[in-house]
Amino acid sequence: MPALPAHWPSKVWLAPLTKGGNLPFRRLCVDFGAVVTMSEMAYARQVKKRSRAEMALLRRHASEKVFGVQIAAGKVEDAVEATKIAVDQGADFVDLNCGCPIHDTVKRGMGATLLQRPGALGKIVAAMAEAVEVPVTVKIRTGWKEDKVNAHEVAKIVEESGAAVLTVHGRTREQRYTKSADWELIGEIVRQCSIPVLGNGDVLTWHEGKHRLELSGAAGVMLGRGALIKPWLFRECAAESEWLPSSDERLEVLLRFAGYLKEHFRDDERGRTRAMRFLPWHLGFFARWRPMPEERFQAAALEHPLMQTRFEDDGADDLGPVERMLRDPREDVHEQLAALLWEAVDLDGLRGAVEELAARTPAVDASEVAGDVAVSHG
Ligand SMILES: Cc1cc2nc3c(=O)[nH]c(=O)nc-3n(C[C@H](O)[C@H](O)[C@H](O)COP(=O)(O)O)c2cc1C
Repeated sequence: MPALPAHWPSKVWLAPLTKGGNLPFRRLCVDFGAVVTMSEMAYARQVKKRSRAEMALLRRHASEKVFGVQIAAGKVEDAVEATKIAVDQGADFVDLNCGCPIHDTVKRGMGATLLQRPGALGKIVAAMAEAVEVPVTVKIRTGWKEDKVNAHEVAKIVEESGAAVLTVHGRTREQRYTKSADWELIGEIVRQCSIPVLGNGDVLTWHEGKHRLELSGAAGVMLGRGALIKPWLFRECAAESEWLPSSDERLEVLLRFAGYLKEHFRDDERGRTRAMRFLPWHLGFFARWRPMPEERFQAAALEHPLMQTRFEDDGADDLGPVERMLRDPREDVHEQLAALLWEAVDLDGLRGAVEELAARTPAVDASEVAGDVAVSHG
């Protein structure tokens, strides 16, 4: 089974994440050991028009070592032009999105729609690969829906069209996040392909990553929600051990992230407004972090992905005020926490402010506590 070539010196990649994969967040992932990072999905047609918003998605941070731009395209001309522009802007590789399930994308013939048009998909990939020197990669789902799983056929076309790497997110378009990712099927695709295949879906802990890699024989794994919940997952995967950060350590991570947002968007009122489209949203993911010591969770992880499992938040009554705030699932609390992070000068001041927030915030109603880490999206 082919391994990744030497210019991709990591088996653990950050998945493309619309909204989540913003530059400040990717920078945080790099701090925690991410080597291969990817942009949010950019619409090729908008890139071709050099729309400001779309061009902003192509920007890389100086710390990013291997940076890929993901595009969504339904037409060869759009894909080729956007690929060239992405490379001009400094992308080390360009990825074609063939998995986006969102109505607006699929109705325009992009994203997961391409799984239903493998011939067209092949033409787009071939033209992209022809147009640039850098590698072209492709990210697919297993098919449109359960009775239309066609990843085997699509994978064959993708590799024949000149893609350097294929990523398989082990779910269909219709399944969204309702089912566990099918790593057996990912393994089948790995075995049939002569190019490296990355597996993707439900990796929340380093030991799940290791197990899914062994199970499938994949060349690597892509981290999506796991990285959003704990960007230090990259470091955990490399070290093969879990970091169980204290609430102070997590506040420090958040402070650092707020600092990166300020640098990116600027530390003024306008920058604050822009950053606040991201920070509270990210806190919704960070709030799902739970300590999952390997000795207690490894057996369960072999049975069923931890990302998809509902756990009681045991000991929740004894959590300190800061820990309670950090785990709070409510959006209004994320808004308030984000405001404190933006204003914070140092860890001590922030901790004090979060303790005050905890004192004036009513306890979460039991019915509001999910107790699991499952996250649904698009
Ligand atoms: C917030 C969010 C945004 C996403 N945006 C994209 C995207 O722009 N392009 C893409 O190919 N997949 C996108 N995905 C899917 C992820 O890349 C990944 O395939 C999926 O979440 C499964 O991996 P996970 O179980 O590790 O999260 C997104 C997922 C999430 C949660």
